[in-house]
Amino acid sequence: MRMDKEGTVTKGVYTIMTKAAASILSADLANLQQDCTRLLNAGVDLLHFDVMDGHFVPNISYGAPVLKCLHAALPDVYYDVHLMISDPARYAPDFAAAGASLITFHLEAVPDTVDEVIAAIRATGCKVGISIRPGTPVEAVFPYIGAVDLILVMSVEPGFGGQSFLPSAPARIAALRAECDRRGCDTLLEVDGGVNTETAPLCIEAGVDWLVAGSSLFHAADPAAVLQVLHSK
Ligand code: DX5
Ligand code: ZN
Repeated sequence: MRMDKEGTVTKGVYTIMTKAAASILSADLANLQQDCTRLLNAGVDLLHFDVMDGHFVPNISYGAPVLKCLHAALPDVYYDVHLMISDPARYAPDFAAAGASLITFHLEAVPDTVDEVIAAIRATGCKVGISIRPGTPVEAVFPYIGAVDLILVMSVEPGFGGQSFLPSAPARIAALRAECDRRGCDTLLEVDGGVNTETAPLCIEAGVDWLVAGSSLFHAADPAAVLQVLHSK
């Protein structure tokens, strides 16, 4: 029995309790603090902060100044920053200074400089995550399993909230879980996109540690009931 980096109690290589991250892309952005507080009170563990640059993905969201304000309002929260941007190394220090706890970048954005980007994020003092789009073979991240803290498996094409979960995702999570176990690595696995009470159990069964949910949490009549499913392991 031991505690991982986020305080999750684990036995051997298996996480006993999954964590739920609320994607603020689906929040009421005019009342961001109140909307996040509502979900944190319902039992959300982390806030997932989606950054889109209109270049790596065909949409623009928000940047470090918004994170800075949210962090000032809610300083005790773990901020899981998901950079869907073309130049993550350039902007990682801004997000770290704004309050990021963990910064995830996309392998497809920087295929030739992955090690440098990992080092650049590491240098900010934040934990490091690497993400892959649904069409990228999971084997592409195998070389980095030992170098990152988290692998984010996208279960939709990145760029928009409210999309349908791609059924290929659980097998991809299971393949990564098997490879991490084979190497004895405690790398966290996260899934993002279309996660709800129907699809979360499939990801949990496949061995995911953290589940990101935007619309299914922010638009839920009873978010605590959704969280009960997301926390069912
Ligand atoms: C998609 C984002 C996701 C998204 C999740 O590009 O990375 O975090 O906001 O939203 P839902 O849960 O609505 O699919
Ligand atoms: Zn995301």
